[in-house]
Amino acid sequence: MTVSVRLRGVQKSFGAKRVLDGVDLAVEPQEVFALVGPSGAGKTTLLRIVAGLDGPDAGEVVVDGTANPRSSGLGREVGLVMQRPAVFRRTVFDNVAYGLHLQGLPEEEIDRRVSAALDRVGLRDARDAKAWTLSAGEAQRVCFARAAVLRPKLLLLDEFTANLDPANVSLLEGAVTAYHRETQATIVIVTHNLFQAKRVARRAGLLLGGKLVETADVETFFTNPRNERTRAFVRGEMPY
Ligand SMILES: Nc1ncnc2c1ncn2[C@@H]1O[C@H](COP(=O)(O)OP(=O)(O)O)[C@@H](O)[C@H]1O
Ligand SMILES: [Mg+2]
Repeated sequence: MTVSVRLRGVQKSFGAKRVLDGVDLAVEPQEVFALVGPSGAGKTTLLRIVAGLDGPDAGEVVVDGTANPRSSGLGREVGLVMQRPAVFRRTVFDNVAYGLHLQGLPEEEIDRRVSAALDRVGLRDARDAKAWTLSAGEAQRVCFARAAVLRPKLLLLDEFTANLDPANVSLLEGAVTAYHRETQATIVIVTHNLFQAKRVARRAGLLLGGKLVETADVETFFTNPRNERTRAFVRGEMPY
């Protein structure tokens, strides 16, 4: 399972506002990459473009060697977990099984894979619970399991633990690390939690002013960045 992501000169505007102003990004196969930046920097916009949910105004997006993922039917290989989970009004099991049913897999295999996915997020005993009655943390664990059970080669996580309590943050970070170990999937995690970036990712990049100003291995990024603005950001001297 190897997928690379390449962005060259990606631009995106909403009305008169240019949110992405020539973003160059290379995420290597099997890498866990953290994208950080202040609120409003365009992180979600960038992730949606990588996921193929939106197209750039200009520039090139290549995912898994395929240009313009939006029209390539690559969707099934890409998993996305957003900040605010929306669960279906069904049981926890049904929520996680949904995508596998769409693939027409046999019930036996669906049961096995959903059970394993629920185990990994500590929800084995909640499989028959009504998903809409869960706590925010549990609901987000359902959403992670719903994405992971499809075994995407590229997993995109957008502030996926924001506003959750430390126990749920820790559990979900553990689930990401386990998923990566088991599948060697390429993972892009968007977060304003710098500690999370440090804990989970191997490399990090700062999105600021519509551009990716610096990427480096996490050690360098957080302790000895080249760019003055990265330095200010990781020191918490930049409002966000
Ligand atoms: N669909 C949209 N329509 C209009 N403006 C948008 C849309 N999506 C994002 N924006 C604007 O683009 C900027 C970047 O948003 P976003 O990508 O969500 O930033 P981040 O995720 O880094 O906080 C913000 O100013 C936001 O208001
Ligand atoms: Mg965002």
